[in-house]
Amino acid sequence: MSQNIATEEYNYKVVRQFAIMTVIWGIIGMSIGVLIASQLAWPVMNFDTPWLSFGRLRPLHTNAVIFAFGGSALFATSYYVVQRTCYTSLFSPKLAAFTFWGWQAIILAAVVTLPLGYTSSKEYAELEWPIDLLIGIVWVSYAVVFFGTIAKRKVKHIYVANWFYGGFIITIAVLHIFNNMAIPVTALKSYSMYSGVQDAMIQWWYGHNAVGFFLTAGFLGMMYYFIPKQANRPVYSYRLSVVHFWALSFTYIWAGPHHLHYTALPDWTQSLGMVMSLILLAPSWGGMINGIMTLSGAWEKLREDPILKFLIVAVSFYGMSTFEGPMMAIKTVNALSHYTDWTIGHVHSGALGWVAFISIGSLYYLIPRLYNREIYSTRLIETHFWIATIGVVLYITSMWISGVMQGLMWRAVNDDGTLTYSFVESVQAVHPFYVIRFTGGVFFVTGMLIMAYNIWKTVKGATPATAQVPVPAAH
Ligand code: HEM
Ligand code: HEM
Repeated sequence: MSQNIATEEYNYKVVRQFAIMTVIWGIIGMSIGVLIASQLAWPVMNFDTPWLSFGRLRPLHTNAVIFAFGGSALFATSYYVVQRTCYTSLFSPKLAAFTFWGWQAIILAAVVTLPLGYTSSKEYAELEWPIDLLIGIVWVSYAVVFFGTIAKRKVKHIYVANWFYGGFIITIAVLHIFNNMAIPVTALKSYSMYSGVQDAMIQWWYGHNAVGFFLTAGFLGMMYYFIPKQANRPVYSYRLSVVHFWALSFTYIWAGPHHLHYTALPDWTQSLGMVMSLILLAPSWGGMINGIMTLSGAWEKLREDPILKFLIVAVSFYGMSTFEGPMMAIKTVNALSHYTDWTIGHVHSGALGWVAFISIGSLYYLIPRLYNREIYSTRLIETHFWIATIGVVLYITSMWISGVMQGLMWRAVNDDGTLTYSFVESVQAVHPFYVIRFTGGVFFVTGMLIMAYNIWKTVKGATPATAQVPVPAAH
């Protein structure tokens, strides 16, 4: 038995592949974000070309940042964490390799079909049915590799990060399958099996839980592994982390209707979604506090360690966006915020501040270990941190201002009941803020390019690291 363990090696190859692709897709997806931000500020940037137009590139941006960048980060870190915490190598290396190539093929299919205008028109689920089938196959393979690894673990306990990754994998499978149920009419056109308000309800049950599980639960898995590792401290409260997992999973699944306030959805459903969103504040903040307090007794590390800065600031943004979200879910607040840039500001405080920051911090931890090299420059990580922070702040503050302004201008009425402002006036008013958002995006992408350079210098000429699975301590 012990001989077997001593000769077993961790499978780092697939982790390395996904880690490198995270940086590449991050740069591509965010650059498209910058392009569409420029289109909103200067329409000439649409170049009068259909496949370069805002309507086609916007879903390409969301797919590239969520599924290509975020997805690759989740694959890389979950494969690393599940092996390290289960003291075993990945189950079925071939299937793991298939998930890498399959996922890249899906992304390439998105890169081709979305600009050509092929779309199912469901937000965050735009890809047409043949690609959806491939997603289903790759995702089930991912589940087999992940849970197969858990099943062959050498320790009894399943570390909490794996619960979050596991919850994310199962929930996304269910959401993807049910939301994409469709009747194909041609090779690249299908119609949803649902219609009317049921279609909307299923779509936002999916959409909100894509946020809750794709953009949150998996990244919480990262938080629970990489913060304790980088800070060299145990999780502040392990008991709280388990309560956090169950409370979050139970509550998220009900909150979807807050995307459909004041629509044809039955009123009680909207109110239920609102109440569950408010309740969601508690588990979200419990988790946030658990992540941040893991640093207690080691706060001074935050001064010198830019990786820890990325990780802890990420959790702070998580706290901020999960406070803002429940507020926006209140119907009267949503009456102002819906359709405005406030939503876009909220999205990016979560997407850039939380999702991108925690992924970047985790990658800076991972890459040197995957290549057995010191990072080329810690100062460049520090520079990246500050440039990225300025980028996020420019992005979200400009969107908050323009969003609230839009909301107020649209609802302003004169004494005689006529509108105070025409729509065009509100478009003119937000223009400066669109320029500021564009600048924030340029900052953020510049930070990503610095990261790519730093990683390139780190891994160039390096021999990929191998590591033997250690014999777990008796317990
Ligand atoms: C340089 C960084 C980025 C820039 C400049 C950028 C820019 C944009 C722009 C201009 C839009 C369209 C807004 C509108 O329709 O009014 C958008 C939408 C969106 N972006 Fe980004 N983005 C960036 C990074 C990210 C990242 C990293 C993620 C996710 C991890 C993300 C997720 C989204 C989502 C989900 C939407 C759709 C929001 C909605 O429909 O409410 N973005 N982005
Ligand atoms: C307690 C947690 C959260 C709650 C209750 C919440 C609530 C909300 C609400 C009420 C909206 C506006 C819906 C509308 O008017 O259309 C919204 C939009 C959105 N939120 Fe959150 N939010 C939370 C956390 C997050 C986090 C952490 C992220 C990202 C990582 C995120 C990403 C998004 C996205 C992408 C949208 C735009 C969806 C769309 O219309 O396309 N949210 N959220």
